[in-house]
Amino acid sequence: MPSLVIIGTQWGDEGKGKIIDYLSKKADMVVRGQGGNNAGHTVVVEDKKYALHLIPSGILYEDTVNIIGNGVVVDPEGFLKELDTLEREGINTSKIIISDRAHIVFPYHKVLDALSEKSLGKNEIGTTKKGIGPCYMDKIERTGIRACDLLDEKDFIDKLSQQIDNKNIIIEKIYGEKPLEKEEILSQYKEYAKKLRPFIKDTTVLVYEALERGDKVLFEGAQGTLLDVDLGTYPYVTSSHPTSGGFTIGAGIGPTMIEEVLGIAKAYTTRVGKGPFVTEEDNEAGDRIRKAGHEFGTTTGRPRRCGWFDAVIVKYAARTNGLTAISLMLLDVLSGFDTIKICTGYDYDGEVINHFPASLKILGRCKPIYKEMKGWHEDITNCTTYDRLPEEAKAYILAIEEIVGVPIKMISVGPKRTQTIIREEIF
Ligand code: GDP
Ligand code: IMO
Ligand code: MG
Repeated sequence: MPSLVIIGTQWGDEGKGKIIDYLSKKADMVVRGQGGNNAGHTVVVEDKKYALHLIPSGILYEDTVNIIGNGVVVDPEGFLKELDTLEREGINTSKIIISDRAHIVFPYHKVLDALSEKSLGKNEIGTTKKGIGPCYMDKIERTGIRACDLLDEKDFIDKLSQQIDNKNIIIEKIYGEKPLEKEEILSQYKEYAKKLRPFIKDTTVLVYEALERGDKVLFEGAQGTLLDVDLGTYPYVTSSHPTSGGFTIGAGIGPTMIEEVLGIAKAYTTRVGKGPFVTEEDNEAGDRIRKAGHEFGTTTGRPRRCGWFDAVIVKYAARTNGLTAISLMLLDVLSGFDTIKICTGYDYDGEVINHFPASLKILGRCKPIYKEMKGWHEDITNCTTYDRLPEEAKAYILAIEEIVGVPIKMISVGPKRTQTIIREEIF
């Protein structure tokens, strides 16, 4: 049962897309289990850049089956647009399957996402405004519409019609905004339903059968551990479970079916959206990282907040995801600093904290305790083996490995497939 879960260990955008694509060459199946098109996974093949949002990052390999699992929320408009872009690039999209249990994102979800953010004012979460939170709200409230509902047009239109009426009451009465045009949405979604129908199947059966056959199955995490609605920096989180456990539900597999868990960690830390960030460098050092790492959102284009590597966070991710390995990403971005810092603990009003706290009030008062390391000045983007890395870079990797307590089996020194160092083969 060769199965590998890949998750983000920080606040997302750790470089999951690059590694998922890299390991997809060995995979028979790639499965998304949560999130929606709030994700932005970049894959660079030679000089071509692909930005994937809903479609799994295994899509660039001709024979890999790509599953959008039951825990994902599917925006038909976003999905069809992405599909079209890939098809125009000559990519084979015939092996994409959408779970019949996946919930569907509708225009009112996006409108309510934006209205809720607006009403929060300076306390806004900083969502991607893709309607993700409101769609998961409907799922938990048990009023959502699922992919299987699209299979019966009359039923689907009845359900959608009722939902539009309900949401229009909220839009008008609570937010004082103009209601949505019902007929327009109904006719648009009739078309989307037709186009989506051929993709819809019971994916839990397909994933199970693949694992039973001994196929290699890769589970693609979106977002990151600190964006988990339970384990993350609540309320500045997304509305799903981007941690390894999220796959048991979001892909419909038992926990015993997960063999390995690879955590993707940037060699520094970034986050988009609001909320406390202990190692943030809102200064020249942060600007330098942002520039070198092109740290602007793949989905929204927003500049990402940047700071030093926070080992408290990655240790927390190691514990809550049961990491068996780490892939350390964007190490090349740190070339040129005289000194590089690793946060080993937090100083909370004189008390040392080693566990990531639940309370944002506490987190907001925490100051980083740093271990300072000597930097390197060489360009490392052509280093394809560990031995060729500068001694200072090796020392940095070993220090992180020791502090976090998980083997760093892969190192990434650039966005391309070839810019990947393997210390130990996985999967
Ligand atoms: P994801 O959401 O975790 O898939 O990450 P994103 O794609 O949103 O952001 C990661 C960015 O870093 C993308 O632009 C990647 O092409 C890029 N990237 C990935 N690995 C490396 C690396 O090792 N070095 C550099 N310089 N860029 C990288
Ligand atoms: P990938 O898969 C980084 C953030 C948003 C916001 C919060 C809630 O590319 O790593 P949402 O729209 O999900 O309700 O927004 O979560 N967020 C991400 N940040 N990478 C992502 O995905 C993200 N997906 C959501 O910026 O702070
Ligand atoms: Mg991203």
